[in-house]
Amino acid sequence: MKFFIDTADVNEIKAANERGWVDGVTTNPSLIAKSGRNFEEVIKEICKLTPGKPVSAEVISLKADEMVKEGVALAKWADNVVVKIPMCEDGMIAVKKLTAEGIKTNVTLVFSVMQALLAAKAGATMVSPFVGRLDDVGSDGMLMVNEVIQVYRNYDFATEVLVASVRSPMHLQQAALVGADIATIPYKVMQGMTGHPLTTKGIEMFLSDWNKAQTK
Ligand code: G3P
Repeated sequence: MKFFIDTADVNEIKAANERGWVDGVTTNPSLIAKSGRNFEEVIKEICKLTPGKPVSAEVISLKADEMVKEGVALAKWADNVVVKIPMCEDGMIAVKKLTAEGIKTNVTLVFSVMQALLAAKAGATMVSPFVGRLDDVGSDGMLMVNEVIQVYRNYDFATEVLVASVRSPMHLQQAALVGADIATIPYKVMQGMTGHPLTTKGIEMFLSDWNKAQTK
């Protein structure tokens, strides 16, 4: 499973990259706003930090023609930009047109299997089911991901399943078990997965045994 980092914070991207955890980056308007930086400047910097790896940048328009215009402009910022388009009818028109122009797309805000199927039929490169936000309203986000994967396999769609709105290591484990292509992960969740109380205890024991042996 590919690991994308879900952030517009370049320091988090640098840190995760140093640890070998970055196969791509996803951003959204909320994350860009949180970074407090200019959209174009921050996306260009992220693309340079992760050459050859997909970097999702989201359009703001809601009309198909404007989405296409925005998407074409975004794709010119760097060759690894993936245009993120919200799931809606105009979005599907935009995905079809951008795909025809050879521009990669990521259909976002997907909350049902049928939305994912429509995005794949429109030619989306990636589709982003939001597991955490579905769990938040009492649905089973991972069940939806599992079903999307099954439907794509049934009909050999090339669209990659990018699990988004990941909130915990458990989400990631489940995404990997159901065979998701990609998960996009906040840096905090990546960090949370590295530790285990038995690892900490084991390191302490090894060091203490080692130090005891040195004093003999
Ligand atoms: O990039 C979209 C997504 O990952 C958002 O996550 O936690 O705001 O639902 P969240």
